[in-house]
Amino acid sequence: MLNSDYFEKLIMLKTISRKGWTLFLFLILMNSSFSQTRLEPYRLAFHFSPAAAWMNDPNGLVYYDGEYHLFYQHNPDDTIWGPMHWGHAVSPDLLHWEHLPIALYPDNLGTIFSGSAVIDWHNTAGFGKEAMVAIFTHADTITQQQSIAYSTDKGRTWTKYSGNPVLVPPSGLRNFRDPKVFWYGPQDKGHWVMALAAGSSILFFTSPDLKTWTSSGGFGIQGATCGVWETPDLFELPIDQNPINKTNESRWVLMVGIGDCAPAGGSGQQYFVGRFNGQTFSNDNEKDTVLWADYGADFYAGQSWSDEPKGRRIWAGWLNNWKYANTIPTSVWRGALTLPRDLGLVQTPEGIRLTQKPIAELENLRKESWHWENTTITESTNLLEGISGETFEILLEFQVDPALNRIGLNLRVGDKTKTTLGYGIKAKHLFFGRAESGEVSFSKDFSLNHIAPLLPQDGIIKLHIILDHSSVEIFANDGLVVMTELIFPSDDATGLELFVDGGTVNIKQLTIHRLEF
Ligand code: FRU
Repeated sequence: MLNSDYFEKLIMLKTISRKGWTLFLFLILMNSSFSQTRLEPYRLAFHFSPAAAWMNDPNGLVYYDGEYHLFYQHNPDDTIWGPMHWGHAVSPDLLHWEHLPIALYPDNLGTIFSGSAVIDWHNTAGFGKEAMVAIFTHADTITQQQSIAYSTDKGRTWTKYSGNPVLVPPSGLRNFRDPKVFWYGPQDKGHWVMALAAGSSILFFTSPDLKTWTSSGGFGIQGATCGVWETPDLFELPIDQNPINKTNESRWVLMVGIGDCAPAGGSGQQYFVGRFNGQTFSNDNEKDTVLWADYGADFYAGQSWSDEPKGRRIWAGWLNNWKYANTIPTSVWRGALTLPRDLGLVQTPEGIRLTQKPIAELENLRKESWHWENTTITESTNLLEGISGETFEILLEFQVDPALNRIGLNLRVGDKTKTTLGYGIKAKHLFFGRAESGEVSFSKDFSLNHIAPLLPQDGIIKLHIILDHSSVEIFANDGLVVMTELIFPSDDATGLELFVDGGTVNIKQLTIHRLEF
């Protein structure tokens, strides 16, 4: 990631404050005396991370004219959370990102919290032909209110609307943030819809022009409510795209970030499946049904791209957790984006559930590959001896034998360190352990083991694993159960092991691709 125009980009990032200068000088010093690996331990290869300084939530995800835009919560002056700006990057394929100057700076209405962006195809706001409009929260210590800004040059320069704020909170409501806006209905007869987080509820508003907003309903105190609700998203998805059992049905999915008490501890991502009538959302499930989009510790504030050109619903989250986000042991940058995932819905015996798959574009990074079929492994075999690296895609499919205990993989294996993941056959769960993964001392919460309920399908478990230096993403059973996790192994921990506890196992298929960027 550290290339020749790196410092140029860093300078562009912001008029640099004193802390910013210290960071800048530190970078120059480090660059002159160390290699890139020493300079930037844990830097991800094909996941987006800011060139320098702090990042949290993805914001304003929109596609326009050949570019996927990523705006993000950014504190350009430090590697911890602080006065929020919108950082900006663009990509042709959601993997190769170009850093652009900061899009939105704090002003007299406050700092710039999370929000979304749309293309105003029919110029409803009157900002100009195909204006890109950002809808965000202006936040100060007392008030959170919604404002808009627009760009008519592909997001390169931005003008804040002179009538800001466009939506103020009802009196006494402090949590009133993270507007996600989309167009509902046919172009000539539709309207804009905003989903907004407010405590343990999502509020809905409608607008003809992005400037005037009318309350149209609310949804809340359902699912998990033990943390503050943040960063909603709402979209329609078809059910069962699999050609064998394809239906013409669809449902609406309401995504909600929850600030605490997610399955792996700390912040996490829940979702609701239901209907949306253009005004408000209703849940298809019982009030107390809790559905988690991710059982790992490090997927938060997920948002989907507007106007995705292939009609896909692709989302990505912040690869971190508020429990320890400010202390993870990266150096000049802190925070990253998860791998973008392609979303779907499937009918399961338990009800309609979300599926997530790594975007197809990732296949372009596959280089060297290994493949096995119908291979028996025992407790003393390591099929993967001799394969080592820091960026892999692993597709594993095995027959579940009830006599066995665990089947899994150790990633980033070093002298005394490893990251362990796999399937617990008796417990019927996917597990992920990072207590021995490398640097863990920065937070007592980091070493906890994480599990997710997972049942074999026709006696088979499938795991699709993406490793990128300091991130591990597991998509189990065609994306029905997902775990996203950070790890901080040392550079020389590059080994890979496949293991079985309690007997022998038949590996139906195992494919490993080295991913090169
Ligand atoms: C979620 C969040 C949002 C807020 C932003 C501030 O991580 O707390 O609710 O807009 O971060 O950076």
